[in-house]
Amino acid sequence: MGTSQGLTGPDLKQGVREEAVREGEPLLGHIDGAPALLVRHHGRVHAVGAKCTHYGGPLAEGIVDADAIHCPWHHACFDLETGRAHGPALDAIPCWDVRLENGTLRAASARQVDVAEVHEPKSVVIVGGGPAGVACAEALRAEGHRGAITMVTAEGSDPVDRPNLSKDYLAGDAPEEWIFLRTSSALASHGISLVGEAAVAIDRAARVVRTAGGRELAWDALLLATGAEPIHLPIDGAALPHVRVLRTLADSRAIIAAASPAHPCVVIGASFIGLEVAASLRARHVAVTVVAPEAVPLARVLGKEIGGLVRGVHEHNGVAFRLGRKPAHIERDRVVLDDGSSLPAALVVMGVGVTPRTGLAAAAGLEVERGVVVDGAFQAAPGVWAAGDLARYPWRGELVRIEHFQVAVRHGQAVARAMLGRPAAPDVPFFWSRHHDLTIGYVGHAERFERAEVHGNLDAREAHVVYHDNGRIRAVATIGRDRLGLEVEAAMARDDDAAVHALVTR
Ligand SMILES: Cc1cc2nc3c(=O)[nH]c(=O)nc-3n(C[C@H](O)[C@H](O)[C@H](O)COP(=O)(O)OP(=O)(O)OC[C@H]3O[C@@H](n4cnc5c(N)ncnc54)[C@H](O)[C@@H]3O)c2cc1C
Ligand code: FES
Repeated sequence: MGTSQGLTGPDLKQGVREEAVREGEPLLGHIDGAPALLVRHHGRVHAVGAKCTHYGGPLAEGIVDADAIHCPWHHACFDLETGRAHGPALDAIPCWDVRLENGTLRAASARQVDVAEVHEPKSVVIVGGGPAGVACAEALRAEGHRGAITMVTAEGSDPVDRPNLSKDYLAGDAPEEWIFLRTSSALASHGISLVGEAAVAIDRAARVVRTAGGRELAWDALLLATGAEPIHLPIDGAALPHVRVLRTLADSRAIIAAASPAHPCVVIGASFIGLEVAASLRARHVAVTVVAPEAVPLARVLGKEIGGLVRGVHEHNGVAFRLGRKPAHIERDRVVLDDGSSLPAALVVMGVGVTPRTGLAAAAGLEVERGVVVDGAFQAAPGVWAAGDLARYPWRGELVRIEHFQVAVRHGQAVARAMLGRPAAPDVPFFWSRHHDLTIGYVGHAERFERAEVHGNLDAREAHVVYHDNGRIRAVATIGRDRLGLEVEAAMARDDDAAVHALVTR
């Protein structure tokens, strides 16, 4: 069954017996030298690519739900009919037609997906070159939009895969060409123009965006996806040149340039980004101390049990912690803490959270309340949408603003549909975070929780934690239980609390 190229399972063009393809159970094989799946869903059999277009996750290990195959790693999903991607993935997977002849199912020719052309809105302007902006632009094209699309971005580079800035790229494990989410030439090949300037004003009456370079960009539909910016603590020395934050490629490059085994680093903030920076700098043999006021890292979001595990993993890899402490001020060669002690530091990275970039929206008279307030289809005002880290939107009975990559991509893709007058709604949020060899997945969203209930064995990295609030399961974190995370997501998407409960307690 296996082949010399390391492919697994049968050649799906040669075919398999009809009864071998069972409802909802992907059958892994290969087509034209690449891994592929046969998937029976609601009785119909589909042939699709088996490799997730995000980071190459094994779709055969995912689940089939709601007419899509879902990736176990970071919860991208792909329509079985068209291969179309949903965040965090941007690219579709290939699809083939399937024939049934004499009881044998065979993949036939590559499926051509016909999409009706749409010419309205004539001109779309997207402010922001992050994942929400890029996903919106590309989803418009995938949905058949043929009008003008202009993306205005103050990124200072082509759009980047932001999560990677604190992980493999910062650790030195990924070459620079991997860091780009999209190059300007790739966007141009889809007819998406990139303007590398800050937008400085929005005239909603004239339907024009003005840029720092003096351009006036007319829009019929406008997406604001200006994301968030890192908080700089208001302490003495925070503006010294060796004090860094991490949001852009330039920030990551600057940290890499300053990282040296000969020079100690202090990370201020035991946030996801702060801890990932600590892990990546350890991979570069830098001595790292994390300073944070909380007793247990990440406890507010993940609970003290996973927080304790994360701390242990970092300590095992040589990261030192000064918890329960705040920095009082920063000097050229040290960080002085609020108990008067000090830590030597040639490099200081602040990972103390972000704040949404709402200035443009507020000046344009949009409702801003810790984010740009939008409705359930991400609309902020007629013709204006907001998405990603910027947007505060209704989800499960409350207004939320969520800072996750997958969420930003899904928002962008939903806004594209909304701009074309098609149904659009928020999906179940998901994020992942990596700490050395520990990866955590998190489905749902708990602004707060009354109880975090651990199931399984955290030390063995085979566990999930259930976050309860006000009589509902709000979120579930998984370690080594990717499939459960997908199943919970599917149940939450159906708003089926009983199914969520049954899954997490089975
Ligand atoms: C280092 C790092 C690691 C992360 N790791 C993870 C992770 O592991 N998992 C996860 O789920 N999430 C992670 N995140 C969070 C995730 O990257 C964000 O949620 C996501 O990038 C938000 O996307 P966005 O498009 O809303 O905004 P952003 O990515 O912030 O993009 C906003 C864009 O708007 C542009 N902009 C802002 N103002 C203007 C203006 N006036 N004119 C023109 N352009 C403007 C910016 O230059 C930028 O291009 C990480 C974030 C960082 C910084
Ligand atoms: S590898 Fe599939 S979602 Fe990331």
